Amino acid sequence: MTLDVMKYAINRITNTTPELGQPKKEEELRKLVGETITAKGIGGEHAFHLFKDVLVKATVPIDHPRHLAFVPASPTRAAIMFDLVTSASSIHGAYWMEGAGGIFCENEAMKWLVSLTGLPEGAFGVFTSGGTAANLSAMVTAREYWRRNPDNLNKKALVITSSGAHSSIKAMAKVIDADVLLVETEDLMTAKDLQNKIDRLNADQRKRLFAIVATGGTTNAGIIDDLEGIAQVCEQENLWFHVDAAYGGGALVTDSVRHLFNGIEKADSITIDPHKWLFSPYDCGAVIYKNPELAKAAHSQEGSYLEIFKDEGARGFNPADYQIQLTRRVRGLPLWFSLAMHGTDRYKWAVEMGIKLANLAGELIEDREHLELVREPSLSCVLFRRKGWSPDDYRNWTYKNHRDGFALVTPTKWIINDKAETVARFCFINPDTTIEDIAAILETM
Ligand SMILES: Cc1ncc(COP(=O)(O)O)c(C=O)c1O
Repeated sequence: MTLDVMKYAINRITNTTPELGQPKKEEELRKLVGETITAKGIGGEHAFHLFKDVLVKATVPIDHPRHLAFVPASPTRAAIMFDLVTSASSIHGAYWMEGAGGIFCENEAMKWLVSLTGLPEGAFGVFTSGGTAANLSAMVTAREYWRRNPDNLNKKALVITSSGAHSSIKAMAKVIDADVLLVETEDLMTAKDLQNKIDRLNADQRKRLFAIVATGGTTNAGIIDDLEGIAQVCEQENLWFHVDAAYGGGALVTDSVRHLFNGIEKADSITIDPHKWLFSPYDCGAVIYKNPELAKAAHSQEGSYLEIFKDEGARGFNPADYQIQLTRRVRGLPLWFSLAMHGTDRYKWAVEMGIKLANLAGELIEDREHLELVREPSLSCVLFRRKGWSPDDYRNWTYKNHRDGFALVTPTKWIINDKAETVARFCFINPDTTIEDIAAILETM
């Protein structure tokens, strides 16, 4: 059975066009597989067959070259192989005492990630379960820092972000019981828009404002806020500056669009998800702090059973101290191995490829009479319309391509003249997507 499992893993890793599975209703799946958890067990071979023959077919492989919906993914073979090694090695990734060798590797990858941001000496970060956990970890750090001022101890915190920010910012503000105010814009948040919003706060709101969250690549359209200008506002107004570059952060490695992120080096904290545009398997996010000591003050857990980890003999970097999770997988290990194997130039090539594909898609769209761009491609996102289509047409088109096992491309909305229009959207991550793939998808419109 071990060989069967390894064979499956190798076949799947080397398959660059896996079957685009379809969801099935829970009752349907149950009917197909029967009871799987029983007192005596159904046997590994049988369970594995059920998985291979039925269950995995009810999933969509995120690395399919014609999966261009949401933010897809495209983990390298090296990273996936090392994900298996990470599991097999059973490393506890919370504390140096137990995980030193694994955490060392994570930190090597993290050093590279930090170097892309241009943050000053001393900045460092830690791998998280994803962008949501990274944003939460950063917001907790910022809020705790703000509450060092005794005047803020009993105040409900307030954060300003833009309407283009990812849903996780609002969701995580709820978790920390903070209010959120939005700079309403479909385009980039400018320093001027932000300053206007701050100037219009009442005295109570201004006292409660502790952080600004800018976006380095919006999920919907790949838009990067005016990071340089926003950094200045944050400095003048004495506010924490967080940049959510969960999706766009991979583009920091490029030559072509790196300048759009200028100002990110002034951030107090940054989110970048290697499981989005840095080709890591799920789940691997990262949060980076200008001053990691502030994160440690916010996140370090205390307990008599944990004291040994802080002892002289266990001294080293403890990832548990810098984000919300205690027990953790050394989830940066697959990224480390893949980076070490391929070198960073290969990463630059692969991210540039996503940008190139977006621009090529833009040209193909402009060449077709019945299609038009809604806005110029930004990072690896392309928003476009099929002239004359209603929201139902877009939905039916998505379902048909998915049902045919051909492609997964989903619609989104874009506000034009105060009205939300349903449009089509591509997001490119996989460098194996070809121009023929894009042309073939456009043909289905
Ligand atoms: C800009 C941005 N921030 C945060 C997230 C949330 O990341 P995760 O799904 O890894 O929690 C996403 C996900 O798409 C994102 O695009």
